[in-house]
Amino acid sequence: MAKYIIDTDTASDDAVALAMALKDPSCKVAAITVVAGNVPLQTAVRNALITLDMVGGDDLPPVYVGAEKPLIGQRLDASHIHGQDGLGDIGYPDPVHQPEKEGAVQAMLRIIDTCDEDIELITLGPLTNVAIAITLEPAIMKKLRRITVMGGSQLGYGSPRGVSEFNILSDPEAAQIVCRFGVPITMVPLEVCKRAASPDDDCRLSAAEMAAIKDIGTDLARFCIDCNKTLIDYNKKAYKNEVLGLADPTAVAAALRPGLIKESFACNIQVDTSGSHTHGQTNATRLKKTIMEGMAEHLTHTVVKTMDGPGFKTYLYDMLK
Ligand code: BDR
Ligand code: CA
Repeated sequence: MAKYIIDTDTASDDAVALAMALKDPSCKVAAITVVAGNVPLQTAVRNALITLDMVGGDDLPPVYVGAEKPLIGQRLDASHIHGQDGLGDIGYPDPVHQPEKEGAVQAMLRIIDTCDEDIELITLGPLTNVAIAITLEPAIMKKLRRITVMGGSQLGYGSPRGVSEFNILSDPEAAQIVCRFGVPITMVPLEVCKRAASPDDDCRLSAAEMAAIKDIGTDLARFCIDCNKTLIDYNKKAYKNEVLGLADPTAVAAALRPGLIKESFACNIQVDTSGSHTHGQTNATRLKKTIMEGMAEHLTHTVVKTMDGPGFKTYLYDMLK
């Protein structure tokens, strides 16, 4: 069984993603590393710890505190999407769990270096921690079997800021370092959870599907819907529809249940760091050899186009049951 490190800027959909992975008996999460993104670093740490409290049990991974801001510039904020506290402003009590003293980058490097099994990374936030680890110790980071990235927007469907997706736009320089590194990447872009050509690829939870999860009746199941209150309200206004697109859980599902990926393509991804209108946009080329500086001469990336929507929802439901 492979081991996983999950790097997260824990807000509401990150919390669901963590809960799903931690409840999956076929997955061993070796560590949770936290990065600033949706919310300030200490808020993201608090939310990761609250999620551990909600999941409960004895075999929970340690939580490590990482980068406070991107490699260049200041943190972008997403409290309008996830709430001031990142968890829907429900007022969850302070966590019982506490973070480790060791820093996230050091812990990531130590765990990867000493792991005697296959180890993968799943990233749910800006790629700052990962880029710092790659820059410090590339040989250790090469031991990763795969990095699954929630990020990017391959079809030009980005955030309200334009064509760029939040996690990549939050730290484009870090994302470019990760994309040029050479470890295989599976990128799960935003549209996988936001759009669907047919009900078969629809990963968005309807109001009835949210109610069914709450009806499981556990604190954890209720938490996974309630903490997304700000996001649900935002979607009601933006799309005039009560739906919940859970970006980070789709990325975790792609990593832990690759059979749920319906369509994907091999490519090399470049991130625009030029500061122009396309700043932070991910560009995928399917050419094996290119003259673009820093591109691998083989295709090391996979972009997910569609996932099995009903299968994803069943997986989420089963893990929370
Ligand atoms: C990403 O940004 C955040 O809103 C979510 O947690 C997800 O990681 C989607 O663009
Ligand atoms: Ca996230």
